[in-house]
Amino acid sequence: MEQQILKIPTLKTERLILRKFKKTDIEDFIKIRADERLYVYQGGISPKEREGYVEDLNRFIECYNLPRGSKKFAIEFNKTIVGIVGIERYNNQIKMCSMGWTIRPEFQQQGIAYEACKKIIDWLFNKCDINRIEAFVWQGNEASKRLTEKLGFVLEGVARQARILNGKFIDVYNFGLIKDDYLKEKK
Ligand SMILES: CC(C)(COP(=O)(O)OP(=O)(O)OC[C@H]1O[C@@H](n2cnc3c(N)ncnc32)[C@H](O)[C@@H]1OP(=O)(O)O)[C@@H](O)C(=O)NCCC(=O)NCCS
Repeated sequence: MEQQILKIPTLKTERLILRKFKKTDIEDFIKIRADERLYVYQGGISPKEREGYVEDLNRFIECYNLPRGSKKFAIEFNKTIVGIVGIERYNNQIKMCSMGWTIRPEFQQQGIAYEACKKIIDWLFNKCDINRIEAFVWQGNEASKRLTEKLGFVLEGVARQARILNGKFIDVYNFGLIKDDYLKEKK
């Protein structure tokens, strides 16, 4: 069966607009992608010249029209892009994908990631026929672990010593959220 393209719509919540990235987002995009604090638990960053970030943003935009590759939602709050939610490993044959999230430090702990992810999860289950969403959280990433739990994901396993952080092996927590859990929660 052919891999379908997951079409990213514009979604709205009380405070946020969740939408595709545009070329004009470049200044906010750099603020996120060049902030090494945000990528400690995501493999780190390699600092780039501005042109490198322009290329990254262009790649994000091109991916919207490709069957494979991560699809990124820009999180817009008061006309500023404050974060990214990525939908990765989408597989329409087994109705599965994974999610990742990043919020700029000055906008953290205001419920923005939760509000954005909740809406995107509703969309994935209700409009995209997704049955299972996965999330992978590195040991020590308390913010992401709490967010994942608050969203209703269940800890399904631990990949022991699966990454290296600051020269030490660390575990990766494997979380899953299935449509049945989500429907039960809604009742
Ligand atoms: C993980 C992240 C996206 C959370 O974003 P956020 O907008 O601050 O999250 P929210 O405000 O929606 O909070 C969701 C829950 O997490 C908790 N939380 C947020 N930051 C926390 C922190 N630093 N420590 C402990 N709990 C935290 C909140 O209190 C809330 O739980 P509660 O309602 O029970 O109190 C953000 O910290 C981030 O961008 N981190 C760096 C990038 C990253 O590591 N991404 C994940 C890769 S798996």
